[in-house]
Formats: sequence, C-alpha cells, structure tokens
Amino acid sequence: MIVSPNDLGFNEPIQGIILGAHGGVGEALAHHILAQAKPNRLVLTYRSQAIEAFVDHPSVHQYKLDITNESAWQSFTQALAINQQKFNLVFNATGLLSRTGNAQNSKVQPERALRDLSFEQMTEVFAVNTFGLGLALKYLCPLLNRRERSIFASLSAKVGSIADNRIGGWYSYRASKAAQNMLLKTAAIELARSHKNCICVGLHPGTVYSDLSAPFTARVKHTIFTSNESAQHLTKVLQKLNSEDSGHLYSWDGSQIPF
Ligand SMILES: NC(=O)c1ccc[n+]([C@@H]2O[C@H](COP(=O)([O-])OP(=O)(O)OC[C@H]3O[C@@H](n4cnc5c(N)ncnc54)[C@H](OP(=O)(O)O)[C@@H]3O)[C@@H](O)[C@H]2O)c1
Repeated sequence: MIVSPNDLGFNEPIQGIILGAHGGVGEALAHHILAQAKPNRLVLTYRSQAIEAFVDHPSVHQYKLDITNESAWQSFTQALAINQQKFNLVFNATGLLSRTGNAQNSKVQPERALRDLSFEQMTEVFAVNTFGLGLALKYLCPLLNRRERSIFASLSAKVGSIADNRIGGWYSYRASKAAQNMLLKTAAIELARSHKNCICVGLHPGTVYSDLSAPFTARVKHTIFTSNESAQHLTKVLQKLNSEDSGHLYSWDGSQIPF
C-alpha cells in the first residue's frame, strides 16, 4: 500500500520500534504515531511496566527489555525477526539521569562537583545512556530497511554537547550523552554505506515534564514542554531530515547542536 508521506516523511506505512515507551517522551511519541501515522506495526519496549493504554491495540506489540542486558537483546531481536519484515523507524526514548536509592542500590544523583563522582554511579549512567544505545545500534540496525527511507533516532541531550558546556556539573550524564553522540555519529558513517537512505541522529527534546526531569525543573527559567508537545516537535524535526543530515544532534526546533 502506498500512502502520501506521513508526518515522519515515510511514503510507506511505519514499521516502528520505540525503546523506553513507558517513559514520558516515549509514550507520547507512541500515541502520536498511532494517531497520526497509522503504523502497520509498532513495537514498544518497556523495562518495568507495560503501557496500559496499548495492551489491546491491534498494531502494537509490547516487549519487556532492559537495554543493558545483552542476552535480553538477543531474545528480543530473535522474536522480531520471525516475520522477516524490516523496520523503517527505531526511536530510543530510554535514559537515566537520577534514581532514588533502595535496599539493593544506592541512589543516582547528578554530580555537582568532582568529589561526587563514583565508579558505581558512572557505570550505571553510562550503562543506560551509552552502552544500552550501543546495543540498540548493534541489534536493531540490521533490521532496518536497506533501500527505503529509515530512521534511527535516539534521545540524547543538549547537555551532552561538549561545545555547549558552559556551567559544568552533571558529569556522568553529560559524558554518557557525549559518548552516545559519538556512537550515533560513528554508526551513521557505517550505515551510510549499507543503508543509503538511513538517517541516524541524536535528538534533544528540550526540557520536558517527565519523571526524569521532575526533580530538576523548579529553577528552570525557559519553557518546559509537555511530553505531547515534545513528541510533536520531534516528529516535525524528523520529517524534515534526509540521509545527508545523518550523524548529527538536532534540537526540538530543528536546529543542529554542535557536538
Ligand atoms: N525530560 C527532559 O527534560 C529531557 C531533556 C533532555 C533529554 N532528555 C532525554 O530524553 C529521554 C527520555 O526522557 P524522559 O523525559 O521521557 O524520561 P523518563 O520518563 O524517565 O523515561 C525514560 C525511560 O527510560 C527507561 N529506562 C531507563 N533505564 C532503562 C533500561 N536499562 N532499560 C530499558 N529502559 C530503561 C525508563 O524505564 P522505567 O519506566 O522502567 O524506569 C523510562 O521509561 C532520555 O534519554 C533523556 O535523557 C529528556
């Protein structure tokens, strides 16, 4: 079936995967795509809790996936490969900035100063924001359509821009997102050879009301978006991109953020 370009710029129906679809931006994007683009298939992954709203949706398939667990990636991608259909959209909406502590784990808190750095915390933040994304690239890029337009987008963050770092702090989060940007850039170079119409990019959603941002929004002076507004901004950005734009980091308004 050929349809007019949908709001992600595809001429064909979307076969998509959203990682971290239980998160604020991930779930809003899933709602947006289901309402606007009528995908053939939308695979949603979650770590702790399936997304209630989509349990009976005929186009939605939900999988539990911890993106830091490589054997879980193997099982997940084996399950996806069963019907041999290729995907044209992968959107990574997972991320870690902070976490309250519990009996098993100490809390994760963005560092204000060097004295706050700990190996354990750096490892956990990098595991989600960097290594998990690396595994997503490894396991999902082979499932992307090689000939037609395809998108691999990952929610990075402006604070991961080394060039833009003026106020410091948040060492692990900043560094893990900067390293994520390098993984995306490097993958974009490789994908340009094998998937000529692929767009592999990082996205900064702006500041968005969500569990991730909630502890840190009290003193924010600029506009904070709802997750629905963010999903709309990000789809508009992706709609305008083509393969020549691959390998960069884009803000919610479409501007390029220097690495
Ligand atoms: N919100 C903002 O202002 C803002 C600004 C700049 C960049 N970003 C980026 O945007 C992305 C989405 O953020 P958000 O605001 O939507 O945050 P969120 O609501 O906290 O969503 C993050 C999601 O990541 C999932 N996740 C964490 N670790 C995971 C793991 N090991 N395996 C699988 N899933 C995992 C969480 O799963 P659980 O539900 O199980 O915890 C959660 O659903 C993040 O990468 C963030 O860095 C956000």
